[in-house]
Amino acid sequence: MWNFRFWDVHDVAVFLSITLYMCHLAGAISIHSPERSLTRSTQDNVFFSVDITCSGIPTIRWTFMSGVVSRSIGTWQPGVYTNITEDYRSRVQPYINGSMGLSGVRLPDAGFYVLTVTETTGSSKDAGFVLKVNEVLYEDLQYLSVAALVLGCIAGLLMLTMWLLDKAYRKIMAWRQKKQMPDNDATELQPL
Ligand SMILES: *[C@@H]1O[C@H](CO)[C@@H](O)[C@H](O)[C@H]1NC(C)=O
Ligand SMILES: *[C@@H]1O[C@H](CO)[C@@H](O)[C@H](O)[C@H]1NC(C)=O
Repeated sequence: MWNFRFWDVHDVAVFLSITLYMCHLAGAISIHSPERSLTRSTQDNVFFSVDITCSGIPTIRWTFMSGVVSRSIGTWQPGVYTNITEDYRSRVQPYINGSMGLSGVRLPDAGFYVLTVTETTGSSKDAGFVLKVNEVLYEDLQYLSVAALVLGCIAGLLMLTMWLLDKAYRKIMAWRQKKQMPDNDATELQPL
């Protein structure tokens, strides 16, 4: 058991030194972002604000990750080209400083957003963002539920009225039958 723990610590140390080495290599790129964790309601807009500095023209790539899904959102080189994935074209706004605006947030948009900045020299750096999406009850839906409630009440009243009418009809029929019965009895009894 101790051995395992020792190895775990060792592995972590190796991983850390490799990461530090990579960071050293990628030292020329810096990604500054005021907010890494964002929460929005459905239909809101979200702005992943970053400011990147690096030598030369960077290649900015945004990727969406959620569970096992990994989707490319878009890649752009400021002033050179912009390539936004078709699914996101109508909703994504790219910015020169690497920022990305996403409009009309939906529930499936919740997840991780990874920004990868690549320099012309080939070195690159990543930054991760978390987006949480809350569902809101729309006013339209509230109106709909009120309308459904009113319709339900009207339907209930109609059913009650029909039931009462039916009961009244049966009572009248029974009364008429009762009224006819003695006559019948009388006619049948007459010969006696
Ligand atoms: C990036 O640029 C956008 C648009 O010019 C700006 O609104 C945003 O604040 C900038 N982000 C940072 C971190 O400076
Ligand atoms: C744009 O990006 C998509 C997916 O990343 C890729 O298949 C396509 O070739 C790119 N188009 C251009 C013009 O770079």
